Amino acid sequence: MSRHVDMPRVTAPDIRARKGGEPIVCLTAYTAPIARLLDPHCDLLLVGDSVGMVLHGLPNTVGVTLDMMIMHGQAVMRGADRALVVIDMPFGSFEASPEQAFANATRVLKETGAQAIKMEASGPDIGDTIKFLVDRGIPVMGHVGLRPQAVNVDGKFRAKGRTREERAKVLAEARAADEAGAFAIVVEGVDEALAPEITAAVKAPTIGIGASAKCDGQILVTDDLLGLFEWTPKFVRRYADLKGIIDKAAAAYAADVRARRFPAAAETYVLGGKPQRRRVAGDGKRG
Ligand code: KIV
Repeated sequence: MSRHVDMPRVTAPDIRARKGGEPIVCLTAYTAPIARLLDPHCDLLLVGDSVGMVLHGLPNTVGVTLDMMIMHGQAVMRGADRALVVIDMPFGSFEASPEQAFANATRVLKETGAQAIKMEASGPDIGDTIKFLVDRGIPVMGHVGLRPQAVNVDGKFRAKGRTREERAKVLAEARAADEAGAFAIVVEGVDEALAPEITAAVKAPTIGIGASAKCDGQILVTDDLLGLFEWTPKFVRRYADLKGIIDKAAAAYAADVRARRFPAAAETYVLGGKPQRRRVAGDGKRG
């Protein structure tokens, strides 16, 4: 069944045009039902490679594959009608050359139907790869500052901007991504004063995470915001305690099963008898 679509989907140029305007609301999504819930509230949904840690229990994002990103991208596209869906390019899928990045980004867009990709590109060639993709029709979101894919070089997830050299490097990378045509730039885990400096220096909107309220938009990992984890980084604000809710619901279910209180008569099929009055919850909605 097709869903009613009130508004056209947000595009990468729409996001770029929001520089300096109303803050851009972004969240991560990895599944169709969560994308459906977030879509009315967000301008942009990122299928982040954080999916590896959040849903697959990996210790970091290095083990995430292109196939994983495509599968979660397809799910999110089935759930979201309006927000721009951006798919993260995983570690190893874009760094070797602009040609490698183009081949893999093309696969992502063709197989998911999403309209843009994000790359944690870094170093002196950052602009070359982004420009190669943008010139060939692929909208790219940059990502500077703390780059989780570089965890094995950095040794741990460490905020950037402690030294003058480090600040200059992050600023230069943001400028290079901007000049190469990135439609937006994620600024992750940087000194609070560096984020507004970057925001002022680039034409593309900056999307902060662990950065500053002075960025052009904000993003969080949705599962952090929902309180699904015991530990979250300092920059996360928890808006719900789903962990507690799930824990209570599972405990109540377990108690009902053990006491034979579940299922009750109304939750079973009585076939061949009187016509059923009450539909079992979810009946006919799932295979
Ligand atoms: O992978 C991810 O979820 C991200 C965001 C945190 C920006 O890169």
